[in-house]
Amino acid sequence: MTDATATTPGASTVAEVTAATDDAMRALGRDLAALARPGDLLILSGPLGAGKTTLTQGLGEGLGVRGSVTSPTFVISRIHPSLVGGPALVHVDAYRLGGPEEIDDIDLDMTLPDSVTVVEWGEGVAEGLSDERLEIRLERHPDDTRTVHLRAVGARWTGIDLPGPAGRG
Ligand SMILES: Nc1ncnc2c1ncn2[C@@H]1O[C@H](COP(=O)(O)OP(=O)(O)OP(=O)(O)O)[C@@H](O)[C@H]1O
Ligand SMILES: [Mg+2]
Repeated sequence: MTDATATTPGASTVAEVTAATDDAMRALGRDLAALARPGDLLILSGPLGAGKTTLTQGLGEGLGVRGSVTSPTFVISRIHPSLVGGPALVHVDAYRLGGPEEIDDIDLDMTLPDSVTVVEWGEGVAEGLSDERLEIRLERHPDDTRTVHLRAVGARWTGIDLPGPAGRG
């Protein structure tokens, strides 16, 4: 993971990270876990197999939560409680959800304040859950490397250094 971090006009911060392997993607997840606080919302987007679940696995490792983070076929939302007294990881797969109305039905606002909530396929669906969020877009390249575009929205992220130049290659 390498590359640049920049502050754009307005309230968002952007960064771009290269993840050459699935291990690097998990390492990025662990780096994000180190920044994460209860109430955080992470919205993941990117095509099939881009590495959204892999990133979430690293996040779960870094947070020290119970249970393995997988891509469940029939479950839309899974709660992984912390084993270390920190926030739970709420892992949502919005692939089968029709839109923002349907995400309301799974009551994420109940767990959001005390958890770290990650929504795969959340772009265009989950933004309404919070004005403050980390939008993470994964780009998959033919050589199996990934570029991860991070965009932090809202005051919570002001002054936070997103993973970037100091990261791993
Ligand atoms: N650089 C990389 N970063 C992430 N994953 C990689 C990389 N190179 C190879 N992979 C592999 O690609 C696959 C990514 O699968 P993953 O389930 O994380 O994607 P996803 O975006 O969650 O897919 P889905 O859209 O089905 O939810 C894994 O098998 C992983 O090992
Ligand atoms: Mg997935």
